[in-house]
Amino acid sequence: MQPLAPVFVARGLTKVYGAGDSRVLALKDVDLDIRQGEFIVLLGPSGSGKSTLLNILGGLDAPTSGTATWRDHELTGASDEQLTTYRREHVGFVFQFYNLIPSLTVEENVRLVAQIASNPMTPAEALELVGLSHRAGHFPSQLSGGEQQRVAVARAIVKRPDILLCDEPTGALDVDTGRLVLAAIAKVNAELNTTTAVITHNSAIAGMAHRVLRLSGGRIVKEEANPRRIRAEDVTW
Ligand SMILES: Nc1ncnc2c1ncn2[C@@H]1O[C@H](COP(=O)(O)OP(=O)(O)O)[C@@H](O)[C@H]1O
Ligand SMILES: [Mg+2]
Repeated sequence: MQPLAPVFVARGLTKVYGAGDSRVLALKDVDLDIRQGEFIVLLGPSGSGKSTLLNILGGLDAPTSGTATWRDHELTGASDEQLTTYRREHVGFVFQFYNLIPSLTVEENVRLVAQIASNPMTPAEALELVGLSHRAGHFPSQLSGGEQQRVAVARAIVKRPDILLCDEPTGALDVDTGRLVLAAIAKVNAELNTTTAVITHNSAIAGMAHRVLRLSGGRIVKEEANPRRIRAEDVTW
């Protein structure tokens, strides 16, 4: 599916943490347009500002200056309540650690999010998308790390988010299970046209993206489109 008009627009995003001697300039004047349905990979060394940028896109953090707009939602200057609504209705997050609730089954973990969303798919549909229908009644401790991460993907997408933000989703996984997680994320992007951004240390994953952004020192220093995308199955690291 071809990416369409920009749905996320950032201009002059700057983020400063701390003050005085401990002042850190995490993002410096970042401009970014993300189009509907795009699959973006963010690469860059540790400390280059990747998570800060993703957290601002997802309404988890606010820039010190600059503007960030998601469709008609002005995220910059939004109240905490507005940002909570934005995250709940529009954003799916996947982090390196799955943080499933150990005392709930796989299906119940996903249902918990479906219950507070306005237009969710069923937990069964979400689990089908990540290839885990057969594990719905199991507890997280009965699953491998990669399977738990696919549950986390199902939990992130059950609300039908507008944007799926993944911060090092394969960081704790080996190659084979990591590939299955990436395949699940790519499938959601392709089938639901969910705009997707994935942070990774692993440049091999960049081949799956429509567009690759490289960060260094709080700036986007390189941006390239992939003329030919590779499938998750063909990623090696
Ligand atoms: N909450 C915070 N308080 C202080 N400094 C922070 C905070 N979050 C991030 N930083 C600093 O901002 C810079 C960018 O961090 P981050 O966005 O997490 O980078 P990356 O995800 O690329 O590793 C780093 O120097 C980091 O130490
Ligand atoms: Mg990070």
